[in-house]
Amino acid sequence: MADQVSRVIMAEADRIGIDPGTVVVIDDQDGSLLLAAAERWPEAELRLHCDALDEEQTCRAAADRAGLRVTAADDLGLATTGAGLALARLPKGLDALELLAGAVARASDPEVVLIAGGRVKHLNRSMNGVLERHFGEVRGSLGLGKARALVGARARPGPEPQPRRAAVDGLEVVAYGGVFAGASLDAGTRLLLAQAPRFPAAESAIDLGCGTGLLAVALARLDAATKITAIDHSRAAVRSAVATAAANGAADRIDVRRGDGLVEVADESVDLIVCNPPFHRGTAKDSSTALTMITDAGRVLRPGGELWLVYNTHLPYRSALRRSVGPTEVITQDRDYLVTRSVKANP
Ligand SMILES: C[S@@+](CC[C@H](N)C(=O)[O-])C[C@H]1O[C@@H](n2cnc3c(N)ncnc32)[C@H](O)[C@@H]1O
Repeated sequence: MADQVSRVIMAEADRIGIDPGTVVVIDDQDGSLLLAAAERWPEAELRLHCDALDEEQTCRAAADRAGLRVTAADDLGLATTGAGLALARLPKGLDALELLAGAVARASDPEVVLIAGGRVKHLNRSMNGVLERHFGEVRGSLGLGKARALVGARARPGPEPQPRRAAVDGLEVVAYGGVFAGASLDAGTRLLLAQAPRFPAAESAIDLGCGTGLLAVALARLDAATKITAIDHSRAAVRSAVATAAANGAADRIDVRRGDGLVEVADESVDLIVCNPPFHRGTAKDSSTALTMITDAGRVLRPGGELWLVYNTHLPYRSALRRSVGPTEVITQDRDYLVTRSVKANP
């Protein structure tokens, strides 16, 4: 399917017959779009911008194997600056599409064309509405199998959209783009947050898969001495968590990092991990990242350290928690979620 989305985007570019000096590829998942663009426009400058770290790493590796020169840009505004063509995978949410379309319309060549593709079942009319705010001409492509693209031309540059803000359970949340739960509190996170007074004293704590970072802010309020790190692989999450920390007066308390789970965290270096793990990868249900997080929590926790996890009641994580971390108890449960506490066993 990844291929089919790339192919529908490239077919549309062919139909338009565009010859851009700079092509920006946004949220490619596997490098197929990047490689196709390199083959089609060998003289063009190629830029890459991905929200998710794993997708970015996969695309960079594919580019390296193919010997391509690609500029990977951290900032979407920089990635799109001066681009004549933007090829993108449609994000899941409308706020993320708003950010993407706005950046392309604002920073690119005035003649820029945006071609954004996805699976037909993930496309909806509201996406056209978002594109129409940033482009004078918006239309759908022909379908290819189960994939289709939306095309935006005649850019209408506007101001950068402001993040969403809200007050939730005594905390201020700031949400950029497609960050998980947006400017609201996920029901699972709410259940875990309610247990915060029972979290153990900790010199160092991690909010793993932090999203907007509300759990990290709760940790900062609990103990002024705890060194807190918030980690997420998504750029939108990192940007949101930085802003949420600042909005709650905790900017100097929380070190927000873009990272792949606990990969860069040293063995036996952490006292407390709190986590509402991902249960999707892209649009598909997938527990593999959550299970990797559990395994790695067992590695990075100090003996006696604790992992507090919230997850859907039907997910079979308890044996992994016992095996990788140690004794595990259910602290609370409602119809949909349960909160577990796992204590790292002494070696
Ligand atoms: C269920 S959401 C929870 C977000 C936030 N903690 C909350 O409770 O609102 C899971 C989060 O994990 C992040 N995530 C997914 N894969 C990741 C990975 N490999 N490394 C770090 N974060 C990841 C997602 O971007 C998402 O923000």
